[in-house]
Amino acid sequence: MIIGIGRAGLLYSVISPVDTQLLIYGDAKEVQMYDHLSVWLNGKMIPWPEAKVPLLSHGFSRGSAIFEIFDTHEGPTGTVAFRMDKHLNRLMRSAELLGMQTGYSTRQIAEAVVETVKANNIGRGLIKIMAYWGEEAVIQLVLDSKLDVAVFAIPSSEELGLDNARPVSACISKWRKLHPETVPVEAKACANYLNGYLARRDANLRGFNVGLLVGTDGFLAEGSVESVFLVKDGVLKTPSLGRILSGITRLSILQAAPAIGIRTSEEPVLPEDLFTADEIFVCNTGVKILPVARFEDRTLEAPGPITRQLMELMKSILNFSDDRFKDWFSPM
Ligand SMILES: Cc1ncc(COP(=O)(O)O)c(C=O)c1O
Repeated sequence: MIIGIGRAGLLYSVISPVDTQLLIYGDAKEVQMYDHLSVWLNGKMIPWPEAKVPLLSHGFSRGSAIFEIFDTHEGPTGTVAFRMDKHLNRLMRSAELLGMQTGYSTRQIAEAVVETVKANNIGRGLIKIMAYWGEEAVIQLVLDSKLDVAVFAIPSSEELGLDNARPVSACISKWRKLHPETVPVEAKACANYLNGYLARRDANLRGFNVGLLVGTDGFLAEGSVESVFLVKDGVLKTPSLGRILSGITRLSILQAAPAIGIRTSEEPVLPEDLFTADEIFVCNTGVKILPVARFEDRTLEAPGPITRQLMELMKSILNFSDDRFKDWFSPM
């Protein structure tokens, strides 16, 4: 792969656009050990190796745990978290959609995040929150106890690939997106990720980085751990909510794009639309925007002009050089 430096200082390939061996966020081998870190578990800081659940806990054996993941940045006056309020609200919404209740309020979990970031001295990094039934439930299917909550703060590393905004390849997955009438797909629930796992695995086996899932209704949904956008005739389009996770990066892009004069539309998108799109990108908390340089057998400019503008905008927001979005950050 040949690497060039974009106007925004972002690395991107210029000749051979896609490296199919590229490990993207979610694929990276996490070789480093986290044992030296501390974890917030139900109000106490404990060593990472002690943050465990029984094999027969409901969260593990039924896959019923819910979670959130968001990023921290080194701000001018210390570490800040990106859109923590939105992520914590989504955690509560996941619980509500599944008839669960966390043992803690949003404010208490926000305080736990701050405590965990401070205890581990995290600057650029990731926060992962797990909420789950940690007690053993050998046969009992429906529980009504409050969920346990664990907060992990993980420092950025090359392996995590948080700052690898590189072009990727994408295909349509042979797997369909979970139907929203079978499970609430807006809940960020561990069990829902078997769907994403299969799509990513299928894509990787076919030599692509990202597998895009189409719903059983024939409309495009999202990637395994990514929201999807396309640009057509200057308009930025993304599938409407209802059949996808309500991505916070997706929301941020939709909110920020008009500030640089980009028109947006949330609408039903057909997989065919990707074959005629001028630009395609996927996005999530980890890497923000990943331009798609190859979609099935099509080669696309990556990043195309609108994707590039959005990447630059996102970069300036995350560099704290755009005051319009400063309330997107919570001090730690
Ligand atoms: C299924 C799915 N869609 C979309 C996203 C992107 O969401 P966010 O921007 O909140 O990270 C994720 C993130 O992990 C996801 O798992």
